[in-house]
Order: sequence, then structure tokens, then C-alpha cells
Amino acid sequence: MGNSEVYLTDVTGRDGFQMEKDWIETEDKRLILQGIIDAGIKRIEATSFVSPKSIPQLKDAKEIVGSLKSEEITVVALVPNVKGAENALKSGVDEINFVLSISETHNRKNVNHTVRESLEEVYSIQKLMNSTQTVLNVSLGTTFGCPFEGKFNVSKVSSVIDQLMYNGVDKVTLADTTGMANPKKISHYITTLREAFPVVQFSLHLHNTRGMGLVNLLAGYNAGVRHFDASLGGIGGCPFAPGATGNVCLEDVVHMFMEMGVPIGPSINLKKLINTSKKMEEILGYKLPGQVMKAGTAGEVIAN
Ligand code: COA
Ligand code: ZN
Repeated sequence: MGNSEVYLTDVTGRDGFQMEKDWIETEDKRLILQGIIDAGIKRIEATSFVSPKSIPQLKDAKEIVGSLKSEEITVVALVPNVKGAENALKSGVDEINFVLSISETHNRKNVNHTVRESLEEVYSIQKLMNSTQTVLNVSLGTTFGCPFEGKFNVSKVSSVIDQLMYNGVDKVTLADTTGMANPKKISHYITTLREAFPVVQFSLHLHNTRGMGLVNLLAGYNAGVRHFDASLGGIGGCPFAPGATGNVCLEDVVHMFMEMGVPIGPSINLKKLINTSKKMEEILGYKLPGQVMKAGTAGEVIAN
């Protein structure tokens, strides 16, 4: 299966904070994200360039990107349309993550476009990005099922990726927006899609809505995926999908791979990550879903 090393993208700043109703001070956001970076996470989806009417929490996107930019890390921002891409490019992000959903209903509710219109936006964004160094990734929401439309066949996902590839997109994130996947489904989808699109770099973005986040992630790993999203403390979710809850928890994912002896590139300081998660818990003011932050690592001797 080749390289066993995994690569993690922290999505706390975008997927995590977008679900927080109470305003988080920009400085607090920055402190949390810097803590994650200092713990060794070098790819970070820090914010999104969306309408402040849709997601008021992320209206400080430009400041956040400006405060994090450095040579050592890759700053990613989510965008829903051309306007978002223009603003993201102006801010100097390293990578744009364009979001569209496999489900027409969710795409309409989330970004107010048909799937076809979203694919046309991708084409326009590609043209905008032609003369830049910025990388484009496309995230496919509701890949494994939709709270409005139910389950899809993998061929529906393939046909969207076909059109993306036609436009030159070779980085694709498969997102389980509301936790409708299971390990068997993940294996089937990943095997089918990797075989159909060998040049595409697939990432998995998994929500723990039904408690299957980590087993799904491991199923993805066993099927050959090496790139995963996760969020500190397990916060997050899509405000435009009913019942959405948090992502797989970043420090729990790191802990699992470390215990398994799977290398994570580059190396991560788990203690620092857990401390940052505890600090975030204080800032947000409620108990976070993360497990290892409560139990400690399996390597720690706690019984006597
Ligand atoms: N950033 C900031 N403002 C934007 C914008 C963007 N990316 N795209 C559109 N706008 C502004 C327009 O300028 C316009 O402003 P005005 O009222 O002052 O003239 C207004 O929003 C409406 O523009 P329109 O193109 O009609 O957008 P819309 O109302 O159809 O909303 C989106 C479409 C995509 C902007 C909105 O649905 C959105 O921001 N969705 C984000 C969804 C999201 O983040 N989901 C979670 C992540 S998966
Ligand atoms: Zn998500």
C-alpha cells in the first residue's frame, strides 16, 4: 500500500468555529489556532470566506488569515463561490477549499446553488487562480448520504468527480457531513473511487454524528487514504444540515495513530494539543466531546 504516514488538516477554525453561536473574540480564535500550530499541525483550515449573513462567526476571516500566515504552515480557507475565492486570494491563503454538495437539496440550502452551478463556479475559480501559486481543493459535502435526500450510490459521486477532473481538479475531500457513513461503506467508496481516479488525492472529512467517526477514519486509512481532517476537541458541524454535530476529534485521531505506531507527518506534540483543547474548552465554556482530553493518553499510568 506504499507510504503508511498520515497527514492531518486541522479544521477547528472553520468547521469548528462556524457552529459556535456566541461570538469568539478574534484574538481567542488566533490563540487556539496558534496552539494547534505550535503542537505541530502544519495544515490548517483556518476560516471561510462566506457571507457574514450566513456565518457571522467567521466575519473576521481576513484578519485570521493575516495573523496566521507563515512560511512553515499551509493556511486553507473554505469558499462557497467566486466572490469567496476572490476574497480568499486577496487575503493570501495558500489553498482554497471550494465546497459543493452531492445532494442538490443540501447544496441549495448551504450555498444557494444547483450542483451544476457550483461546478461552473469551480471552472471560474480555476481561471481566477491560473496565475497564482494557490492550490485548489474541492470538498464534496454529503458524499455518504444527506439528511434531506438519504443515501446515494457511489456512481453519483464518481460523476461529480469526473466533471471536476475535466476542470483539472486533482485534490478532492469526501465529506460525511452528518455522519451517515459506516466502515463498510467507506471501504467500498474509497476502493471504487481510488481505482476510478488514481491521480486524485482523496481526503476524508468525517463527522462523529453517530459515533462512527474514528472507525470510519480507520476504514479509510485501511483502504489507502492518507489525508484526514479533524478538529480540536471534536467541535464543529454544518449549520445548514439538521442534526449536524462535531468532527472526529483531532487529539483523539493523533492518539489513535500514535498508539498504533502509524507515523504522522510532521511530528506532533500530543500533550501540547491536549492542553490547547483544554484551553479552548475554557474559552467556549462547555464540555467538549473529545475523549483523550478527559481520560488522558493510554500511555499515561493512571491506576495505583
Ligand atoms: N463572501 C461574502 N459575501 C458574499 C459572498 C462571499 N463569499 N458571496 C456573496 N456575498 C454577498 C453578496 O455580495 C451580496 O451582498 P449584498 O446583499 O450586500 O449585495 C449577498 O452576499 C447576497 O449575494 P448572493 O450571491 O445572492 O448570495 P446568496 O444570498 O445566494 O448566498 C452564499 C450564497 C454562498 C454567499 C451563502 O449561502 C453562504 O455564505 N453560504 C455559506 C455556507 C457555509 O459556509 N456553510 C458551512 C460550510 S460547509
Ligand atoms: Zn464538516
